[in-house]
Amino acid sequence: MKTAAVAVLGLLGALCLCSRTEATTAWDVLRNSAANFTGILPCGGWNCDCEFRNPKGCCCVASQLSQLEEATFMRMVGLWTNLTGLTGQIDEIIDGRNIAFTATLTPTPGCFGPFTRNVSIPYQNITLNQGYGYNGALGAFTAPRPGVYSFSYTVYSNMGPARERIYYKTQLVKDGQVIASSWEDNREDSEDSSTQSVLLPLRQGNQVYVELVSGRYLCADTQNYNTFSGYLVYPLLEM
Ligand SMILES: *[C@@H]1O[C@H](CO)[C@@H](O)[C@H](O)[C@H]1NC(C)=O
Ligand SMILES: *[C@@H]1O[C@H](CO)[C@@H](O)[C@H](O)[C@H]1NC(C)=O
Ligand SMILES: *[C@@H]1O[C@H](CO)[C@@H](O)[C@H](O)[C@H]1NC(C)=O
Ligand SMILES: *[C@@H]1O[C@H](CO)[C@@H](O)[C@H](O)[C@H]1NC(C)=O
Repeated sequence: MKTAAVAVLGLLGALCLCSRTEATTAWDVLRNSAANFTGILPCGGWNCDCEFRNPKGCCCVASQLSQLEEATFMRMVGLWTNLTGLTGQIDEIIDGRNIAFTATLTPTPGCFGPFTRNVSIPYQNITLNQGYGYNGALGAFTAPRPGVYSFSYTVYSNMGPARERIYYKTQLVKDGQVIASSWEDNREDSEDSSTQSVLLPLRQGNQVYVELVSGRYLCADTQNYNTFSGYLVYPLLEM
């Protein structure tokens, strides 16, 4: 037991001294004991012969060190590859998720409408359009990627200059299909406002817009009262 302990200490001493230029006296004693030792050592994978005959050099553990170095290097390459892949995926997810818009009808003292057909309302004052899904000229949002989207719109109108009647009907439309609508035909109030909010799963390319139904009109929006906005709540795999 005693010899084994001394040998282990000696080994440690020899290893630790590899990079030292000046050793303390205590280390010298340990090192010399190890160097002078002639018994059998519990070496394991170490090259004890080299260790004790040539204790000043690190060459004795070169093969083990190079194996360790090689393994560490390969592991780092693997981790780096995986990390790069993950970073790319995260970028893709984050980039694709930034989809949101909000737009208002450009303030006009007159009326928008009436028309002889249903027309999409061109909310042209665009204050946010991340992901570039919204087109102000068409008044339409085109889904850049599949996902569940949230939309809301607010309709405002007063009676208009001569008509003395609030008379609007609007509808949120997805590719020609009416999803939600709001309307007012009223001779008692003098103005009215309403809001609709919907969640819609969309395929890439689906279009969503707000239509003014034929014969109806929106009047006297002077302060961005009419709004349309939407955003991606969460992405979906292609449906
Ligand atoms: C080890 O051997 C050297 C000579 O080879 C000697 O000078 C030294 O005193 C010895 N050390 C011990 C601790 O026996
Ligand atoms: C890298 O990822 C693959 C599978 O995604 C896994 O098998 C491998 O262990 C990973 N590499 C490292 C070094 O973690
Ligand atoms: C316009 O919308 C109204 C109300 O939803 C509907 O009844 C009508 O068929 C639509 N007109 C056209 C040409 O789609
Ligand atoms: C567009 O909307 C913003 C925010 O509501 C408003 O400050 C700005 O005056 C509007 N611009 C026009 C041209 O209406």
